[in-house]
Amino acid sequence: MALSILSERLDKIREAGLYRRLRSVDRTTPQVHVDGRAVLLFCSNNYLGLAEHPALAQAAAEAALQYGASSAASRLVSGNQPLHDLLETKVAVWKGTEAALIFNSGYAANTGIIAALAGRGDIIFSDRLNHASIIDGALLSGARLVRYPHNDIQALASLLEQHQTNGLRLIVSDGVFSMDGDIAPLAALADLAEQHQALLMVDDAHAGGVLGQQGRGAVELFGLTGRVAVQMGTFGKALGSYGAYAACSGQVREYLINKARSLIFSTSLPPAVLAASCAAVDLVQSDEGERLRQQLADNGQLLRSLLQSAGCAVPEGTTPIVPLLVGDAEATVVFSSRLLEEGLFVQGIRPPTVPVGTSRLRCTLMASHTPDQIRLAAATIIRTGKELGVF
Ligand SMILES: Cc1ncc(COP(=O)(O)O)c(C=O)c1O
Repeated sequence: MALSILSERLDKIREAGLYRRLRSVDRTTPQVHVDGRAVLLFCSNNYLGLAEHPALAQAAAEAALQYGASSAASRLVSGNQPLHDLLETKVAVWKGTEAALIFNSGYAANTGIIAALAGRGDIIFSDRLNHASIIDGALLSGARLVRYPHNDIQALASLLEQHQTNGLRLIVSDGVFSMDGDIAPLAALADLAEQHQALLMVDDAHAGGVLGQQGRGAVELFGLTGRVAVQMGTFGKALGSYGAYAACSGQVREYLINKARSLIFSTSLPPAVLAASCAAVDLVQSDEGERLRQQLADNGQLLRSLLQSAGCAVPEGTTPIVPLLVGDAEATVVFSSRLLEEGLFVQGIRPPTVPVGTSRLRCTLMASHTPDQIRLAAATIIRTGKELGVF
């Protein structure tokens, strides 16, 4: 009986064109095998190509041999190892903040941080297109959730006027929006937060390593370090490793250690992952990091201009995320499947990840893509889109 309810729900997901399945992808390099077939990869967040960098693999291997495979406990029990402290010091220096705190993933960071900062009697103001982990953190917190229209500063200002509390008010925004690739108006958000005595938290998952001086992220890009209470960032995207961090003041770090349940009640990251992240933080600040960022920016520009000049619905942008709006969920799945048959792996993104009617192909660039691979990808998208009548 209970299982037949699940079957019915799965049927509904299929009927709505929202069925998902796992594909087997062997690497995160531009050329990969998907379910055994050789294709070009254009949907990884391995923006700088660090996931396959020898320095990270070497650091991970050495740490595993020296310290073992697991931390085997939460950091508050016996799982706080020297590499956690080292990584936090490196992140704080890199980001220019007083302190940093490592989390097990971006999802764990957002749910843990938001539910720690806000609770009953508090209000969270969240951009409509924020990542699901922010929404989940807000729901978990028990605070009132007020969602404002995407990047709409006027609307947020009037919502802040309208929703008063004696408790805390927290504004949360993605720095770079994961499915659209656009950048939040962070300076205006920081002004509003100060005017209304609210805390500002920025999720820099897609900006860390990619934007700003030495890849410090979107907050640094706008010169706002010190005006943002928490910068959340991840190691699993441009930094080529796994896990996440909060870059913040010493006081906020101390508070999170005492309140963030995803930190308190979960086994901490293993030594190999921490060591790879340490190597990544060093790399993004090096000349090599600078060169990779430039290559990534050039690659993004090339794909955008090729698609735009063929009339595709691709917005302007400066990030490695290039969305190609299709609209209908079913049509997006068909488009993505046809591209895979043609040797190009670009994931179709559908609700609930994006709002209904805005399904899209989300192309992501890596510094390791060659111009020829990008030209081939653009030509394949344009030809297939025309055949399917999408353009
Ligand atoms: C904006 C944003 N925040 C948070 C996360 C979660 O990070 P993680 O994959 O490390 O859990 C993601 C993506 O996965 C993301 O795109």
